[in-house]
Amino acid sequence: MRTLAHLFETNRRWAESVERDRPGFFAALAEQQAPRILWIGCADSRVPANQITGLDPGEVFVHRNVANVVPHADLNALSVLQYAVEVLKVEHVVVCGHYGCGGVQAALSEQRLGLIDNWLLHVKDIRWKHRTALDALDDTARFRRLCELNVIEQVVNVCQTSFVREAWQAGRDLSVHGWIYELSDGLLRDLGLTVTAADELEPLYTEAVER
Ligand code: CO
Repeated sequence: MRTLAHLFETNRRWAESVERDRPGFFAALAEQQAPRILWIGCADSRVPANQITGLDPGEVFVHRNVANVVPHADLNALSVLQYAVEVLKVEHVVVCGHYGCGGVQAALSEQRLGLIDNWLLHVKDIRWKHRTALDALDDTARFRRLCELNVIEQVVNVCQTSFVREAWQAGRDLSVHGWIYELSDGLLRDLGLTVTAADELEPLYTEAVER
């Protein structure tokens, strides 16, 4: 099958219904975007940022990759973050992981999947960093906890970037949040790591990893 015609049909019906409910919606959005939130999430098809938060087009700037990681020198993630913080001037950066993450699961196994194994070394590093706590858990709990610790560590990575530091230094109102999504009930959970200033990072991180 060469075409995905049904998606164009669904799209047309969606655009019509939005325009019917809110005339001028698209014309206004075409002029500018002013989202207040940057979402950094997993590429997993089951965790669509807008749908699970009920946000409209224009309300959330989104970056997704496998296992929602923010490596220190990843130009893709850093470019999104820099643009969101410095140009769009978002007020919130949400790092949202999810339980049952295939990327995290792969990082816990020795299974070979290809190029992705190298990307997932970022998660394997986190597993290694927290091995004492993780090794004390059974398999199910370890998998869930590594999903959480991965979010916590990515929040740290976001907070350590030069743009976020500079925004805080300039007195900007910018919060970095760590959330996790439960696939089996569709609910988001706050990991209790919300950083709003550079000096909050260390105590909040320590609290989050010891929890
Ligand atoms: Co995932």
